[in-house]
Amino acid sequence: MNDVHMSHGAEAPVAVFDSGVGGLSVLAEIRDLLPAESLYYLADAGHVPYGEKSPAFIVQRCLTIAEFFHAQGAKALVLACNTATAAAAAVLRERYPDWPLVAMEPAVKPAAAATRSGVVGVLATTGTLQSARFAALLDRFAADVRVVTQPCPGLVELIETGDLQGPAITRMLQGYVQPLLAEGCDTLILGCTHYPFLKPLLRQMLPPGISLIDTGAAVARQLERLLAQRELLAQGPARQTQFWTSGDPDNLGKILPTLWKSSDSVRSFVL
Ligand code: DGL
Repeated sequence: MNDVHMSHGAEAPVAVFDSGVGGLSVLAEIRDLLPAESLYYLADAGHVPYGEKSPAFIVQRCLTIAEFFHAQGAKALVLACNTATAAAAAVLRERYPDWPLVAMEPAVKPAAAATRSGVVGVLATTGTLQSARFAALLDRFAADVRVVTQPCPGLVELIETGDLQGPAITRMLQGYVQPLLAEGCDTLILGCTHYPFLKPLLRQMLPPGISLIDTGAAVARQLERLLAQRELLAQGPARQTQFWTSGDPDNLGKILPTLWKSSDSVRSFVL
């Protein structure tokens, strides 16, 4: 990394990444709250899903991606991925102590406050649910409620293909949601950034009165706070978004109009 070329001033971009398209649900919240910011987005689609990979592997990917964005001059980094946060947020904070970093985890605290039945369901990846960070989150915020967890292998792969409504994803999602409803959950945490794209489908399959909670908007607000504290909020009206993927750029390019509501060119990330 060459520090001489870095510019981390207010007009520098904010970098956001995920294993794939899930982080676009967070990117959209950032765009809505902070429209003046230039945004960089990387989908590590060559290595999706993170949810079934080892923490050591995810740490290596996160370090590689963070180094790339730091060298590109990004003024802040958003880990738009619960699984990456669980595995790598602490390592990244240690590696870049002065770089504003926003990480994310399942919204246990707001869900515990919102439930009336006293039973909260968590849909997340295997990696997130098995992590020490998630166990600590439950210890801290879930003492007074019952939390039922549901890993969802295969769901992220279907969302990556752009299937948000078809029979395959409907069947799979039913299978993951039914046990949570049978346990009496009235509040479901969408603990993976891919899952907010399934809200329309969930609304169709859930009985009325079930709350869905995700953290994209809270991440955007936390980013705003960190940038404001450091006087790094962009002022200008202009903003640009640039996309990279470690998978096939055509695949991301094809799905962007659906998930990001605009067509943008996508570059290849080969590290
Ligand atoms: N979107 C990611 C998350 O928030 C990870 C999905 C995956 O690659 O398994 O957990």
